[in-house]
Amino acid sequence: MLAKHGGITYNVFKHTEEENGLAREMVMVLDFGGQYNQLIARRVRECNVYCEVHPYTIRPEKIKELAPKGIIFTGGPNSVYDETSPHYPKEIFDIGIPILGICYGSQLIAYSLGGEVKTALVSEYGHTEVEVDRTSVLFGDVEETTTVWMSHTDYIARVPEGFRVTARTPVCPAAAMECAERKIYATQFHPEVMHTKEGQKMLRNFVYQVCGCAGDWKMGSFVEEKIHQIREKVGDGKVLCALSGGVDSSVAAVLLSKAVGRQLTCVFVDHGLLRKNEGDEVEAVFGPDGPYELNFIRVNAQQRYYERLKGVADPETKRKIIGEEFIRVFEEEARKIGAVDYLVQGTIYPDVIESGLGESAVIKSHHNVGGLPDIVDFKEIIEPLRMLFKDEVRKAGLELGIPEYLVYRQPFPGPGLGIRIIGEVTEEKVRIVQEADYIYREEIAKAGLDKGIGQYFAGLTNMRSVGVMGDFRTYDYAVALRAVNTSDFMTAECAQIPYEVLFKVTSRIINEVKGVNRVLYDLSSKPPGTIEFE
Ligand code: XMP
Repeated sequence: MLAKHGGITYNVFKHTEEENGLAREMVMVLDFGGQYNQLIARRVRECNVYCEVHPYTIRPEKIKELAPKGIIFTGGPNSVYDETSPHYPKEIFDIGIPILGICYGSQLIAYSLGGEVKTALVSEYGHTEVEVDRTSVLFGDVEETTTVWMSHTDYIARVPEGFRVTARTPVCPAAAMECAERKIYATQFHPEVMHTKEGQKMLRNFVYQVCGCAGDWKMGSFVEEKIHQIREKVGDGKVLCALSGGVDSSVAAVLLSKAVGRQLTCVFVDHGLLRKNEGDEVEAVFGPDGPYELNFIRVNAQQRYYERLKGVADPETKRKIIGEEFIRVFEEEARKIGAVDYLVQGTIYPDVIESGLGESAVIKSHHNVGGLPDIVDFKEIIEPLRMLFKDEVRKAGLELGIPEYLVYRQPFPGPGLGIRIIGEVTEEKVRIVQEADYIYREEIAKAGLDKGIGQYFAGLTNMRSVGVMGDFRTYDYAVALRAVNTSDFMTAECAQIPYEVLFKVTSRIINEVKGVNRVLYDLSSKPPGTIEFE
């Protein structure tokens, strides 16, 4: 896609397949609207086989051009008989690429090839015992009776000609079917979800034994090849990166620094809403005394932010101000640097998938990168991590030698402590929340709980209440502790932290942090709560 900016016509989001994949072999997930599309891709990648998710609207010619080693049809919420249900041109079954259909995908295969799909009166849902035929390559090393995860109402009542049934349940006469000659396989159940006990074996069997993959997707080679590729692309051009200190932008920055060294400038804006010591920690890693070769600019913009946030209590207005101010600060720095050739974005694969799966990645909506392309003069965006899942970004980070504490950092929102302080943000409140959060994190780590909790932090309620300390009456703030377990950050459960740890944290915060006389623990889940307080 061509776009104009600052008088320059540049190629913003076009990515060649070579840039995307790097692996020599690829398995394609064809997305029919199932909730597990990303999960299937991740599971395939866990087999060291590179996997991409594409929408079911991709044309067969394009698939032939991409030449995947195998195609996996995902599940989906529809019935094949719905008028609006997604179908796929039948020629896909004749191009010789192995296919595995899952759930809706399996019904679509049966329906498209002349089998019969029926609607059951009762849905089959949850853990289900299935009997498999171990002469199928899919199930060769699987127990004859194994537990799988079912979630369907329609089922395959009659398999198409040339197919044979390879698994059954009392409800589902063709819980799996195949036509080995045509390399077409199908399972009504979901091998990708962890409730299917031997699902990973089944996927492995498909990608290795049916598709003949060699398994060349390894983070070490990704990193090496990516560095080489960036070097070739950038030549002696200038590169600019907005560094937040989070996992994605840190890994992207180190990758670029290894590739082009001092042609890279990283701008790190300390907005005064970071966790205690965080600004210095980022500087220690990326600054002049750190191990990487790059130009590092730290902008200490704390006072500017506090000024702008004075008297503002509305959460959305606060977010907006923090975002806008970031762009302004970044713009000033970018002006000093002058025109650059490339701008680095820490976009990752879920962002690409969620932004519509087109050939173009929409810029991450994260506030501190979202507005940049409009204000910086550049020719092209580099998104070195756009095909990686979060766990792969972390692996790439470790390959690059980034310290573990940075690689396994908890998610931290772009607007930082600004949305963990309810109501107006002041320098004093930032101090309180930084100190309290530091104590909380320290005690969680001491108790050995840090790796087991999804996200945890202290926030500052806007509530002040009466207390007594020594012989004095106090009227101070209440700190709220939050800890959640989550796999996708869309839903979350409150984490059950042992009482003795909570007592210790509470007592330390009240004793050590001036201005606090109460500590509360937030037990709400998401929904209806959110993880952050604002
Ligand atoms: P909520 O509060 O919506 O948070 O349940 C879900 C996850 O997203 C993070 N979060 C953000 N991350 N910019 C970000 O980069 C933001 O504005 C933002 N708001 C929330 C939050 O920390 C949690 O992990």
